[in-house]
Amino acid sequence: PAEIQGDLTEVLLSEADIHQRIAELCREIERDYEGRELLVVGVLKGAVMVMADLSRELRRHVQMDWMAVSSYGAGTQSSGVVRILKDLDTDLTDRDVLIVEDIIDSGLTLSWLRENLESRGAASVEICALLRKPEAAKVDVDVKYVGFEIPNHFVVGYGLDYAERYRNLRAVGILAPHVYS
Ligand code: PRP
Ligand code: MN
Ligand code: MG
Repeated sequence: PAEIQGDLTEVLLSEADIHQRIAELCREIERDYEGRELLVVGVLKGAVMVMADLSRELRRHVQMDWMAVSSYGAGTQSSGVVRILKDLDTDLTDRDVLIVEDIIDSGLTLSWLRENLESRGAASVEICALLRKPEAAKVDVDVKYVGFEIPNHFVVGYGLDYAERYRNLRAVGILAPHVYS
């Protein structure tokens, strides 16, 4: 939509780019988890779009559950302190868990989350993230399924927000500096 497009300097990933890559990841996931039950865990709110598209692209049964975490309190600086705002409804004992995220920035949220879910007795915990910013990494997170590695720009769309806006964009774009400065 023109109203939103004007706030972007560049469309980084089109709707078609995203869907094609998600389909590729799904073929890998189907292979890797063949014959095993799979629980996909979406991290609210950014992962909503990836969860919706990834789960519908998978040609197999999955269970879906959700967590909400607050990463850094009110500050913009990553402290690594994560608080659970909404926990899973599912018992993870002996489960194969795939965490689904929109983006890995510093990596602090996911490294904490993986440890937290592993400590509940899951059989396995892997991560699928649509986007990763290698230049922003503060901790190394082992991510099994990565959609795209992107440069360290402020990106929005397809679940990713700036001040709770732009999540409903179908594409991922770079936010124009005039919007936030
Ligand atoms: C964003 C994003 C990831 C996390 C990545 O979520 O959706 O969950 O930050 O950052 P990190 O790698 O530096 O930890 P946010 O906390 O903005 O919440 P939201 O998903 O509701 O937008
Ligand atoms: Mn998030
Ligand atoms: Mg956010």
